[in-house]
Amino acid sequence: MDQDSTIDYRLLVDNLATAILLVDSNLNIFYLNSSCEALFDISLLRAVGQPVLNLLHVPSDEFNTEEALNNSMRTGQPYTRREATISVNFKDIHVDYSVSQLNYAKSYHPLLLIELNPIDRMLKISKEENLIQQHQVARQLIRGVAHEIKNPLAGIRGATQLLARSLNDPQYAEFTDIIINEVDRLRTLADSMLGSRLLPSYELTNVHEPLERVRSLIANQTKKKIKITRDYDLSLPEVFADRDQLIQVMLNIGANAVQAITENKEFFVDHQPELIFRTRIQRLVTINSVLNRSAVRIDIEDNGPGVPEDILESVFYPLVTGRAKGTGLGLSIAQNIMHQHNGMIECQSVPGKTIFSLYLPWESNHVAK
Ligand SMILES: Nc1ncnc2c1ncn2[C@@H]1O[C@H](COP(=O)(O)OP(=O)(O)O)[C@@H](O)[C@H]1O
Ligand SMILES: [Mg+2]
Repeated sequence: MDQDSTIDYRLLVDNLATAILLVDSNLNIFYLNSSCEALFDISLLRAVGQPVLNLLHVPSDEFNTEEALNNSMRTGQPYTRREATISVNFKDIHVDYSVSQLNYAKSYHPLLLIELNPIDRMLKISKEENLIQQHQVARQLIRGVAHEIKNPLAGIRGATQLLARSLNDPQYAEFTDIIINEVDRLRTLADSMLGSRLLPSYELTNVHEPLERVRSLIANQTKKKIKITRDYDLSLPEVFADRDQLIQVMLNIGANAVQAITENKEFFVDHQPELIFRTRIQRLVTINSVLNRSAVRIDIEDNGPGVPEDILESVFYPLVTGRAKGTGLGLSIAQNIMHQHNGMIECQSVPGKTIFSLYLPWESNHVAK
């Protein structure tokens, strides 16, 4: 049977990653697609009829956007602007955009079609790709070192046990015990450097369930001395994920937050320590250079002193730690697990507000690597 080849063009336009605006002859917005809604953080309903200059022109811009648009409208002459500044929610972002006339029926006034490409996102993608690559090289190095450490440990342990048995003297037992305990400590460390060897088993998971597990673990551990606020969007869809691994990720991040709070008591002289667990749907997220239409976002926020500034950029790298007793493995392992889920972790941190956000795409993440 022939496949029906009629296409709903509205659907097509709404699924484009490019932001598209249509403007009428009064330079008012006539239509915008979903990507454009996301770019300007405005809904179609609110935007229609508004002057497009409100979106496309910032006062500091010397370029006369109004004249250029009117000119294009009159003459049909297309034009392109590179690295134009637009303002979204009081934040400057940079876009390339091209303007062309859309003459869809002789009897109607023409419309202007404006296609916008944010360049900040592209800058961000290449930065992100770079980070991921460096991260992978570092992880391989770490795994190599961990294997080299682990291999002789079994031999040392076995030999020490034999030695203890053949000496059979409590005087020496103290020393052989020290060797065995230290070897065991090293082995645990090497294991955590290697990360989990189990292949993840993905199943449909409601992320609130592991999150609640972690919340009650932390509440018990801290004897309820830290306030934990829940701010959940209970309508979140289920995602394909390995539940135990998600718990590990949330625990690693939660433990860091708890440590940042309990190890810096002087920071809390005039306010209460607090953790916030938040869940949301996030639209249009770029993860590992793939643009996802929507993702589940899980925030673990604390009001501690924040990630030390000198390690903020490299905080997900293995062996980067800001604590005397830290190993610097927690976040690296967590980020690795999230990559295996086609997701990622992001961090933003200033003193008093640190947020680690986990992103899990939910439309396509069951094809996880
Ligand atoms: N919520 C947080 N607040 C302040 N600093 C943090 C937070 N989370 C992580 N960090 C910093 O990031 C470092 C790396 O964390 P991690 O990879 O888990 O290794 P470790 O906990 O062993 O040091 C921590 O040592 C700490 O300095
Ligand atoms: Mg840690």
